[in-house]
Amino acid sequence: MVLRPWNERSDAEALHDAVLESLDTLRPWLPWAEAEPGSLRSRRRTLRTFAETFARDEDYIYGAFTPDESRVLGGFGLHPRVGPGGIELGYWVRASETRRGYAAEGAAALITAAIRLMGLDRIEVRIEPRNVASQRVVAKLGLVKEATLRRRFPRGKELRDMDLYTVFREDPLPETSARFLDPAGREISPQP
Ligand SMILES: CC(C)(COP(=O)(O)OP(=O)(O)OC[C@H]1O[C@@H](n2cnc3c(N)ncnc32)[C@H](O)[C@@H]1OP(=O)(O)O)[C@@H](O)C(=O)NCCC(=O)NCCS
Repeated sequence: MVLRPWNERSDAEALHDAVLESLDTLRPWLPWAEAEPGSLRSRRRTLRTFAETFARDEDYIYGAFTPDESRVLGGFGLHPRVGPGGIELGYWVRASETRRGYAAEGAAALITAAIRLMGLDRIEVRIEPRNVASQRVVAKLGLVKEATLRRRFPRGKELRDMDLYTVFREDPLPETSARFLDPAGREISPQP
């Protein structure tokens, strides 16, 4: 798997296909999927915003691709919105590529990068208690459930519970074979 920032010019169509194919699996868990299906044009605008926020160090959104980068496997993000020393990790995998280890592989790469390359202390993942697939991903990587944040996550008229999972820099880091590219397409290694 290759993880790299999205390219607004060359990735819009491939991302569009991956999202359209996955609406049924994404909608229950990801608020942004409720507004889907967007147009290809709006997809391009979204990728431009991703590139801008990445360049400003505000939000780090990555695409996950097959090794030759011809097919989108899913999307991953590191979101610095959870207080000093921490970052929130998010992920989705396209419907036709689930249960092949991609979420665990990409999440392991981003956790390692956040600690080794960005010098962060804590990675958080927020998961709804009913989202068994995502809970299995973090359990496999050794994250620990810290708390259930009750009635904290607005979805429509509801306020849903959210489980908070964390891993800290002194914890054993999960192994990954994902390749990791920086915004200029240079290979970087989050491994020691
Ligand atoms: C959650 C999601 C990212 C998992 O992606 P994935 O690539 O299928 O996950 P992996 O293949 O890496 O699986 C990791 C572990 O979870 C298990 N798992 C994955 N999907 C599962 C499911 N639907 N039910 C039970 N276990 C599941 C796998 O068996 C594996 O465990 P194992 O190695 O012990 O067998 C994917 O289902 C998805 O995109 N869901 C919709 C979006 C979403 O929920 N994102 C997370 C929001 S917190």
